[in-house]
Amino acid sequence: MTIQAFIFDLDGVLTDTAEYHYQAWQRLADEEGIPFSREENDAMRGLARRDSLNVLLKGRVIDEATAQAWMVRKNDYYVALLSHISPNDLLPGVSDFLNAAKADGLKLGVGSASKNARPVLEKLNVLSLFDAVGDGYSVVHGKPAPDLFIWVAGRIGINPTQGVVFEDAAAGVQAAKRGGFFTVGLGDAAGDGATIKLAGLSGITPREILTRLP
Ligand code: G6P
Ligand code: MG
Repeated sequence: MTIQAFIFDLDGVLTDTAEYHYQAWQRLADEEGIPFSREENDAMRGLARRDSLNVLLKGRVIDEATAQAWMVRKNDYYVALLSHISPNDLLPGVSDFLNAAKADGLKLGVGSASKNARPVLEKLNVLSLFDAVGDGYSVVHGKPAPDLFIWVAGRIGINPTQGVVFEDAAAGVQAAKRGGFFTVGLGDAAGDGATIKLAGLSGITPREILTRLP
């Protein structure tokens, strides 16, 4: 079936906010005396805030009020790190890739677990390029469940087999595969499960992606 849409994860795919999520969790972990590392953070990529907290806790039990307070603190640290984001923070090649895909007649979507996705897209000045934006408010079951990408496909008006999902997270690649999409895994944290594996979006065109699909 002909590909009609490209659907992008946000953090770690369009911009390097994955680094800011990491720094915010690391600050919380340090303050609470919980061992945490950049490697452990890779397991959080793509996961909703609550699921990320569970990864951080590594089986530690905290009461619900504390869990809520810690998530608010992490988000406050993250939002502070976002304050300087501008269109310069699009990852290399992203702007050209999005514009070329649009010029080729593809529909564009975002499927991000983040409740901060819309403000980040606005700061990057790319929100208007997208036909549909699914974020941390769109579905109940986050990645690796396929629900978010299926929700975005529905908004765009395509079947999953007509879409390609771009992800930097293993949980996101899994979600897209479970939903029936083709997948492009970007960077090492995406794992080996994607249809196409790339370091990033620079030096490749949408047409080249289409020719590399099975
Ligand atoms: C993205 C990131 C995750 C983050 C999640 C929730 O998927 O990859 O690291 O935990 O969004 O983000 P939020 O901004 O809602 O806390
Ligand atoms: Mg990501």
